[in-house]
Amino acid sequence: MTTPATVTFAETDLDAVAEFEGVVACFVTADGKMGPEARRLNKLTRGAVKRAVESSAFEKLSAGEVLDLGFPAGMAATTAALVKLDRRPAMAKALAAGAALAKLRGSRALLVLAGGLVRPEDVALGTVLRGYDFADHKTGDDKPEAAPVTVMAAGWEEAETAYAGARAAAEGVFLTRDLVNEPSNVLTTTEFAARLEKLRDLGVEVEVLEEAELEKLGMRTLLAVGQGSESPSKVVVMQWKGGEDAAPLALVGKGVVFDTGGISIKPAAGMEDMTMDMGGAGTVAGVMHTLAARKARANVVGLVGIVENMPDGRAQRPGDVVRSMKGDTVEVINTDAEGRLVLCDVMWYAQDRFAPAAMIDLATLTGAIVIGLGHENAGVFSNDDKLCEAFLKAAKATGEGAWRMPLGEAYDKQLKSRVADMKNVGGRPAGSITAAQFLQRFVKDDVPWIHLDIAGVASVSDGTALSPAGATGWGVRALDRLVRDGYETPDEKTPDVESPDVDG
Ligand code: BES
Ligand code: MN
Ligand code: ZN
Repeated sequence: MTTPATVTFAETDLDAVAEFEGVVACFVTADGKMGPEARRLNKLTRGAVKRAVESSAFEKLSAGEVLDLGFPAGMAATTAALVKLDRRPAMAKALAAGAALAKLRGSRALLVLAGGLVRPEDVALGTVLRGYDFADHKTGDDKPEAAPVTVMAAGWEEAETAYAGARAAAEGVFLTRDLVNEPSNVLTTTEFAARLEKLRDLGVEVEVLEEAELEKLGMRTLLAVGQGSESPSKVVVMQWKGGEDAAPLALVGKGVVFDTGGISIKPAAGMEDMTMDMGGAGTVAGVMHTLAARKARANVVGLVGIVENMPDGRAQRPGDVVRSMKGDTVEVINTDAEGRLVLCDVMWYAQDRFAPAAMIDLATLTGAIVIGLGHENAGVFSNDDKLCEAFLKAAKATGEGAWRMPLGEAYDKQLKSRVADMKNVGGRPAGSITAAQFLQRFVKDDVPWIHLDIAGVASVSDGTALSPAGATGWGVRALDRLVRDGYETPDEKTPDVESPDVDG
């Protein structure tokens, strides 16, 4: 697993600044007022820092952006970085400042002189998240691992405590990104399950249900998707029991390790992107890691359906009728609408076995959500306003775009089948909504439920504020936050992992 860079918090020691080799950063407020840290850099550089702060280049920076001075005279550092940021920045700005420093430093050591900055741990988290690099399959250029980050701050002790939770979140995000970035010849269904089994080291109970068991349970719609693949279909159940007796929150993820479309095969152009079609399951894995790593006082169960959608002599055909675990029959009009066939069985099993307090499914489910919301927001569908609002609030706090979409009976009608209880597609109009309607048919009436369509946000070609190009780990921090705000047993000793104020 790609590990987040090490962050150390320490008391400010301005005498260490001159000798530090690497990148030295300090903060300057928008009005150009320099604190003791900036003044020390200015003294060492014989006035260069002051001139930079008074330049039009600095004036033009937005909050969270950086002006860098290369090979500053009077310092051992390769770069002095002046970050424009107020003392009490909105969380998004602090994360952005950290991300800007990550891009600037590359793999060099970083010393952040945070002075009296409020919540310097947010800057550290931004640096760590944006510093992710998926280099497992590159040979030849030995990229050095990112050197450590040192944050010197007045409130370094509180920052260190708060950062422990953020570090757990960063680890979860990195696990998700690694899984989503991994090519499908490496991350087979078997390899995926094996990686999830490693969560046992953190105290997560992990069970792998194999095909024979899934057959016994009646998960025919899930098995039908995988029946054209050489890789066996699996369901992995991950239980984190950190809470008291309360019913768990269930997280359900689509884990299609590769989606060719099956017999309804996809066009060649862009098909390589379908290595990320296990993004929902990858996100569930990342959340479970985070909760276990920070010993969340909550009961959360993660269930993922892991299959590969291939064309083959044994693959399911368009027109096949398949019986789900619930008992409802599905006419498979299009074998490329496979995610919902996987999820419906896993969701039913989750409710049957765990009677969860709430259920959230995540899936790279439809191309239509990418058309509707682009790469900025995941589609949020819910049967419960309270749960939905709580999730949207959490996502806002962590800066992960999420936008509620409608559900309704009229959309559900699009799924009517001539020969079975329903079809697996509802035609071109409202493709993301009819996919959600399909899933809702497998949600018990009294179970608060959210469906997150993450097809547009799980992996992006341009990178985001906090991730390089490729997998983003979208949702790991929002779901961790949702658990912290809504599902944990209160405990004075539990550290506050991220900013409690929604001000991003
Ligand atoms: N995995 C795809 C959805 C997808 C598209 C994910 C783009 C990420 C980026 C899904 O299984 C799929 O193929 N959906 C079809 C549904 C259609 C056949 C009703 C789609 O969106 O075209
Ligand atoms: Mn598909
Ligand atoms: Zn798919």
